Amino acid sequence: MATKTELKLEKAVLQVKERTKFQPLVALVLGSGLGDFAKNLRVECTIPYSEIEGFPVSTVAGHDGRFIFGWLDQVPVVCMKGRVHFYEGYEVSDVVMPIRLMKRLGAKFLFLTNAAGGLNEKFQPGDLMMIRDHISFFVPNPLIGPNPESLGTRFPDMSNVYDRDLQDVIWEVASQEGIRIQKGVYTQLTGPSYESPAEIKALRALGTDAVGMSTVVEAIAANHAGMKICGISCISNLAAGMSIVALNHKEVQETADRAAAKFTALVSGVIRKMGEIEGI
Ligand code: HPA
Repeated sequence: MATKTELKLEKAVLQVKERTKFQPLVALVLGSGLGDFAKNLRVECTIPYSEIEGFPVSTVAGHDGRFIFGWLDQVPVVCMKGRVHFYEGYEVSDVVMPIRLMKRLGAKFLFLTNAAGGLNEKFQPGDLMMIRDHISFFVPNPLIGPNPESLGTRFPDMSNVYDRDLQDVIWEVASQEGIRIQKGVYTQLTGPSYESPAEIKALRALGTDAVGMSTVVEAIAANHAGMKICGISCISNLAAGMSIVALNHKEVQETADRAAAKFTALVSGVIRKMGEIEGI
């Protein structure tokens, strides 16, 4: 018998397929302040999440909430302009539903982006960090519950979540474009409150380079589904206790806005390479 998760997903997939026949190769999740990337696409179709019955809808200012289907050169891309977060009160299985949906539409690659606080002393606000691994201890695992084999295996391996070949591609494109790039470990917390300085110290001891409120549960679900994943954090601020100014959501968005040009160049370059890998 189909599980609740499968039924919900199936219903959403059918609704999207009724609106568009578009088959994406790449799924791109745009984080806080990074949503303008979608302007670089030749758009075929846009679907607000609110028009998909049963779909989680983003409630955060600056998080738009729609799928944008379009082309970057010859590469078919589906963008999530705005994502839903666990702190909005959704079940974690709902938070990852859009990822599973994009996989069902045909996406082989998942490109995750976010705005994050930097813990590594070498990072500056406005830097881009390639995610090389993550820590998921502080958020519920999206795979808890019955495991429909249609979605993936019960006990997925997690040793190459952020695909090594795609990490090489990111590094190569950054170097070609003259973009300064860092790499590190991203930790997802639930939020919505930012961290205390003591929490940041503890996270650093665990090996965290950047902290935020998204991405990891999405990567777990996508890895489960067999997608090739890569991720970039825009370091929007130094983490709590590392600077004299208090953290606020506006600063996070403004710094991400300032990083937009290099972010766009890097993401576009990597997506073109994904196309080349698939012979497009
Ligand atoms: N902490 C958590 N989430 C964030 C931060 C931060 O400092 N900056 C952007 N998202």
